[in-house]
Amino acid sequence: MQSASNILILHDLKQNMVQVFHTKEALNRQLLPHRKKHENIGLVPTMGALHTGHISLINAALQACEVVVVSIFVNPTQFNNNADLDAYPRSLDSDIKLLEQECASCIVFAPETTEIYPNGLKTEHFKFGELAAQMEGKYRSGHFDGVGTVLKRLFDIVQPDKAFFGEKDYQQLLIVKKLITLTEQAVEIIGCPINREENGLAKSSRNKRLTAKEQEQASFIYTSLQQVKRDFGTKSAEEITKWVEQAFKEHPLLDLEYFEIANAESLLSIDKNTKNPDKKYRAFIAAYANKVRLIDNIALN
Ligand code: PAF
Repeated sequence: MQSASNILILHDLKQNMVQVFHTKEALNRQLLPHRKKHENIGLVPTMGALHTGHISLINAALQACEVVVVSIFVNPTQFNNNADLDAYPRSLDSDIKLLEQECASCIVFAPETTEIYPNGLKTEHFKFGELAAQMEGKYRSGHFDGVGTVLKRLFDIVQPDKAFFGEKDYQQLLIVKKLITLTEQAVEIIGCPINREENGLAKSSRNKRLTAKEQEQASFIYTSLQQVKRDFGTKSAEEITKWVEQAFKEHPLLDLEYFEIANAESLLSIDKNTKNPDKKYRAFIAAYANKVRLIDNIALN
């Protein structure tokens, strides 16, 4: 027979158990009663290797919605480089443990590849236009079609009222907003502020692959963005760009892929002579620390 204290412990354990679903049928059986009650469903799409940046997105979703689904799926079609896909950290068990500690009331959807791509790994082509032409779209060919394909499918399966994305992937955030206008899916897209390590490095699942020394040097990405913000409006975009390119050369563990100052809505590059902008701009960086590709950005005005 169970003693009262045993029952209590069992009850507590159950309360802290995150429910994990692997198929769309099982997930939808779980969501159906909530849909019937017209409760708000929030979706936080992730590729796993969860960190406190994801937790802050999930907490924002929990504040805004009665039910929160966290999807964990490493999406092959958004990688333009097989080595990067193979090296991407996969840690479902520890992800679930972290969720149990931090936000046990969320629901996890961790589908197999065939659930998302029942007809093989085919990518849809979307008319993202200029938004996808720069930066990540330019350096990671096909990336945003892969992101669009997986999100369209996840939105179809989960049918969320709101979906939450971090501003670290600012270009992705704008692409997702465009995606739902193109596909006419009724999802409100919510951008959340960038979460940072103590040294300023933007939180990313890829940070796990950095050595301590690389982590330290990688913090220069944000330091340089802060300097750019201070100089913006007094120095020209061309002068600022030259400074960034030179400063990265002085950091031997870092390799700058691109630095861009772009309009915060259209993502069109700023004219290189602009000093007193009347529109909103952001600065964007992609850089490698050894083989690990890191991105970050900052609002300039
Ligand atoms: O930002 C990510 O982690 C991915 O691009 C996303 C949105 C989960 C799609 O696979």
